[in-house]
Amino acid sequence: MRGRLSIRLGAIFGLIVFFSLAFSYLYQGRQLRELFVSRVRADLQRELRLNSGMLDDRPADWSDTARSDQWADRVGAALDLRVTLIDLDGQVIGDSYVPAGRLAFLKNHSARTEVRDALSKGFGETIRSSETVREEMLYLAVPVGSPKRWGVLRFAKPLQDIRMLEAEVRNGVVGGLLWALLISLAAGMLSAYLLSRPLERITEAADRFLHGETEARVQVRRRDEIGRLSMAFNYMADEIVRMNRQEEWLREVLSSIREAIIVTNAEGQIVLVNPAASRLFTIDGALNRAVPVKQIADKAMRGLLERVQAGGERLFREELTAMTSKGERVLTVSAVAVMQAERFDGTVFVINDITRLRKLERMRRDFVSSVSHELRTPLASIRGYAETLLEGAMNDPDNAVSFLRIILQESQQLTALVNDVLDLSKIESGRIVYDFAPLDLKAHIVKSVAMFDQVASRKGVRIELAIPEGLPPVMADAGYVDIVIRNLVDNAVKYVGEKGGMVRIRAFAMSDAVSIEVEDNGMGIPQEDLDRIFERFYRVDKARSRQLGGTGLGLSIVKHIVLAHKGDIRVRSRVNSGSVFTVTLPVAPCPPTGSPR
Ligand SMILES: Nc1ncnc2c1ncn2[C@@H]1O[C@H](COP(=O)(O)OP(=O)(O)OP(=O)(O)O)[C@@H](O)[C@H]1O
Ligand SMILES: [Mg+2]
Repeated sequence: MRGRLSIRLGAIFGLIVFFSLAFSYLYQGRQLRELFVSRVRADLQRELRLNSGMLDDRPADWSDTARSDQWADRVGAALDLRVTLIDLDGQVIGDSYVPAGRLAFLKNHSARTEVRDALSKGFGETIRSSETVREEMLYLAVPVGSPKRWGVLRFAKPLQDIRMLEAEVRNGVVGGLLWALLISLAAGMLSAYLLSRPLERITEAADRFLHGETEARVQVRRRDEIGRLSMAFNYMADEIVRMNRQEEWLREVLSSIREAIIVTNAEGQIVLVNPAASRLFTIDGALNRAVPVKQIADKAMRGLLERVQAGGERLFREELTAMTSKGERVLTVSAVAVMQAERFDGTVFVINDITRLRKLERMRRDFVSSVSHELRTPLASIRGYAETLLEGAMNDPDNAVSFLRIILQESQQLTALVNDVLDLSKIESGRIVYDFAPLDLKAHIVKSVAMFDQVASRKGVRIELAIPEGLPPVMADAGYVDIVIRNLVDNAVKYVGEKGGMVRIRAFAMSDAVSIEVEDNGMGIPQEDLDRIFERFYRVDKARSRQLGGTGLGLSIVKHIVLAHKGDIRVRSRVNSGSVFTVTLPVAPCPPTGSPR
């Protein structure tokens, strides 16, 4: 780039200098020639007048042309000229170019223009081709003899001589011109280089800046125009960096906002979305240009945007259900107009996803109604039997005892229910602080299962434990793991058949977790209920479960606890052949030091 610019500038400078020199050369060439001719003419004239003055009297011995020719030869040789002497009749009596012997054969010269003019006007001059020597010559002639004229003296110079002289001078000038051209080209390139180098430095810095080197700046060396250009470049680069930083900061702020934000312009086109909005409505987040609202697939949401745009209204937490990338969601939309210099310049929409909130609210409502429903049955039964007793059954001791037993059983059921509800609400509220610590599962399981020995033997159910030695400790809260195991074993014992009932508890280590399996050969769970048994109050056979003292809360408590331990719970079951519940708990991380030796 620099090369091209400096060569171009250099060539332009060189050509300007060259053409001005060449022009002056051509112009001066003609003047030079005229100068030459006039100088030669003036010299000739002077010589002519000098020599003619010496011939005022015709030398007495010149009756013989040999003498006069000798004089002409001598003067011609001395002055390097052709010297001719002509008498008044036009007869040549001496000529430096013609030997004396041949003079007599020369034509009469009286008709020659210069001779005629010399005789008539006192001076004759002409340029023509010589008949005698066949060469273009400059002739000057004056009359000689004073007071009495006796002839004409003529000097002639071949123009060839003048031209040769002129050519010599011209050659010198051409050489000079060539030098001048070379020097001017070099000077042109040098100055162009000096001029283009700082420009080149600015271009280079701009190039680097464009390619991501944001610290590229130009060193300011002078205070001239280029220096000012450099300062302007540096200032602009600083500004761009600052603006980029600010934009990045704004983008980060927008990204960290969990609410979806959509900004539209005055025409109602989307000009900005934050990552949350981009994800929710699958709009390309890198908006390089405004996109139409129809990019939003959901009709209700689009309608709302268009309505606000058309009416310029403010929205505060308007609720709507919209189809989003996460499925159907309940959203609240707030909208504020952006005003710039009191002119409407678009709208900012803030969208909140309140689906979870609504779901929780619904769950809480359902929960309250389920609990009241669950409370109603035992309470009604207690009240019924109490009334019956009061109405006289009290006096029949057999009935009275069995009624009182039922009342006791129902009140136990109530206690269990209230305890489970309290446990669950505590666990679900997230307020529990788990006390996680490495836990030896084997000892723990053995202890928990032992509590069921009595119940199981009464029912004729065999409990088998198959837990290997050396299980890695799991990271768990002992108290809550206890609840998990007790619930699963309780279910197994509860829902297993009366005869031949068998419950097997196994554990085994996996790569970074330990699995505990509680298997029974009981009634099993139908496929369609498998997903739901972890829901609150869900029981496959309500009547039977109730009869067995179940509330339907056990498994939802278990699931909460296991998930809080970053574990997992799964169930496999076949109706009439049994169920297997598998709980997986993560292994406690190895202590960094003190490995056993
Ligand atoms: N081992 C099992 N075999 C067959 N069905 C089971 C088994 N475990 C659970 N279920 C079914 O899942 C339902 C929900 O179990 P869950 O433990 O949550 O409640 P529950 O045992 O009825 O009452 P709770 O445990 O609160 O006393 C049970 O009512 C039962 O229908
Ligand atoms: Mg249970």
